[in-house]
Formats: sequence, structure tokens, C-alpha cells
Amino acid sequence: MQRRPRTLAALSALVVLSGLATTGPALAAGDAPPVPTQIEGVDRGAVWHSLRTGETVGIVSIPNKQAAVLIQSEGEAWRALRNGPLSEYGRWVLGGIVGLLALFFLLRGRIRIDGAKTGQTIERFNTVERAAHWLTAGSFVVLALSGLNLLYGRHVLLPILGAQPFATLTQYGKIAHNFLGFAFLLGLLLIFVMWVRHNIPERHDLVWFLKAGGLFSKGVHPPARKFNGGQKVIFWATIVGGAALGYTGVQLIFPFSFATLLELQLFQLAHAAIAIVMIAIILAHIYIGSIGMEGAFAAMGDGQVELQWAREHHSLWVQEVTGEVPDHHHPAPKAPAE
Ligand code: HEM
Repeated sequence: MQRRPRTLAALSALVVLSGLATTGPALAAGDAPPVPTQIEGVDRGAVWHSLRTGETVGIVSIPNKQAAVLIQSEGEAWRALRNGPLSEYGRWVLGGIVGLLALFFLLRGRIRIDGAKTGQTIERFNTVERAAHWLTAGSFVVLALSGLNLLYGRHVLLPILGAQPFATLTQYGKIAHNFLGFAFLLGLLLIFVMWVRHNIPERHDLVWFLKAGGLFSKGVHPPARKFNGGQKVIFWATIVGGAALGYTGVQLIFPFSFATLLELQLFQLAHAAIAIVMIAIILAHIYIGSIGMEGAFAAMGDGQVELQWAREHHSLWVQEVTGEVPDHHHPAPKAPAE
């Protein structure tokens, strides 16, 4: 093993010397020097093979031992995966969810409050809960946009913006991405601490899933406490996906501090793949929390929701908070047709 670096040094010297020897004085300015095809006693194919496959390693005396890596073959596989299947499947996943949400909106329309509104509101989320949500949400949106720009920007934005504006935007986007990752993780921690006890799976969540949450059928409202089955899925996807993004992201911000080059390449692929799945899930969440459902946004807006909305979507929670017993046999009167 000790022999290798010295062999390499000797071979390199040979290559350089023979290169000089064959570079005659007759070269015109701008001409590339002829590449020597034969080095006496050296099998160039074997030299290339041993460099290419990492059999021959370099040696450095500076602290950064990574500088001794001459060619890292896995880098080619990483690049092919990133620019190939990862980007390709990512496009399908993101395009797919946008298409599905558009289709859902066309078929189902906005989910309305079925019963007559009471004019009364109850507090759904307090100021601290809303601040934590918007810290997480605001940072996630910037992270998602600046991250997608790193993967797709050169194909999507560069042709529209031109080189200089795109470079400036990407530069600021990268800085924002590096810093906001920590804001997102703080929000995630707060959300976890505040809401984990409301997100333990329960038996009635099964009923919620069996009835698809009433999402596809007007007037169907399976019972739920503070969070229904679907929201629990969003919660755990946010926590687990967010933690995985945080873990892989920190490795990438501090390259080589904790991981080798190969590990960093794997972390990068995992980071991007998890982010794409999470963005798709969050797009569905944003849809249902805004235009998709009447009365939902207020929960995270001023924190107060219409009592009838709460009765329909979180009947058991209303019972806990107000003491009101839900009357399943005599549902609330229907809202007058608009
Ligand atoms: C940017 C637009 C967003 C809007 C309009 C929005 C809206 C909402 C609303 C209205 C709720 C309360 C639902 C209820 O009262 O039952 C909520 C809850 C929640 N949000 Fe968001 N949100 C957004 C972004 C995000 C992002 C980016 C994340 C995480 C990365 C997130 C994570 C959560 C979680 C974990 C909950 C509790 C579980 C749930 O309701 O699904 N939100 N959001």
C-alpha cells in the first residue's frame, strides 16, 4: 500500500517529462501541445485505470486529506442520478399533485360549511401556536422555492430571467436556504412539543380514513378531536420528513465535518427526494387550509373558527372544549342555498 503514492509520483513525473519532451518548439500560439501517446515502459491504460478506479491514491501533506482524491468515480453516478431519475420523478410527483388538486377542485369545488352558521366563534389556535405554525410555514415556503431553484432553476428560470439576474437570485436563494433551515427546525420543534399529544393515532381515526374524511361526499363528517386522521398524517409527515431534511441538510451545510464525499452525495440525493415528497404533501395541506375549505384558514389566521365549522370537522374537540354533546340524530339545520 505504501508503494502506491510513490508509484503515482513517479508515473506523474514520467508523464510530465515525456510531455515536455514531445512538445517541440515549433508550436504556434494557441495550439494545444500534442499529447504523448507512448511512454516508454509505461502502460498508459493501466495508469488511467488505476487512477480512475481509485486503486492509485494521491498523497497530500496539507490537513485537507480530501485533496488527495484525484478522481471519485461515484461522483459520476451521483450526477447521473441527480440530473436523471431524481429530477425526472420529481417533476412527475410535483406536476401530479398540482394536477390532482386541480381535478379535486373541479369535481368537489370548495368544501362548504354544511349547516347554518351560528355567528359564534371558538378559539382554535392561540397566538403561540399560530406563531410557531407561521414560522415553520414561512421558512418552509422559502426553503422549498430556493431548493427547487437549485434543482430546476437552470431549466425553468434561467431562460426567462437571463444569466445575471438568475445568478443573483440563486446566490441570495442559497444564502436564505442555509439560514432558514434553522428557523424551520426551530418551528418544527415547537410544533412537535405543542401538538404531539393531539396527534397520537386513535381508533376513531380509522373511521375517518374509511370515510375518506368526508372529503369526497357532501354532508359526511366523521368525528374527530383537535386533529383528524388526515391531519395526523400531515403532522407526522412534517415531523419525520422535516427531521430527515434537517439531518441531511446540516451535513450538506458543513461538508466533510461529519460525512465522507460518498455519504454527502447520498445525503444530497436523500435531501432532494424527501423534500420533493414533502413539498407535494404540503401543497395538498396548503390547498385544504386555504381555498379548498370554507372556514379553515381562520384557524391559523386570527385563531377563531365558526362554531358550526368546528362542529362539522372536529365534533369531539368541540365537545371537549365547550361541553356541547354532538347530536348525530338531529344534525344542524342546513345552510340556506346561496
Ligand atoms: C403556506 C401556507 C399554509 C397555510 C395556508 C396553512 C394553513 C393551515 C391551517 C388553516 C391549519 C389549521 C387546520 C385546522 O384548523 O384544523 C394548519 C395546520 C397545520 N399546518 Fe399549515 N398551512 C400552511 C403551510 C404549512 C407548512 C409549510 C407546514 C409545514 C411544513 C404546515 C404544517 C402544519 C401542521 C403540522 C398543522 C397541524 C396539522 C394539520 O392541520 O394538518 N403548514 N395549517
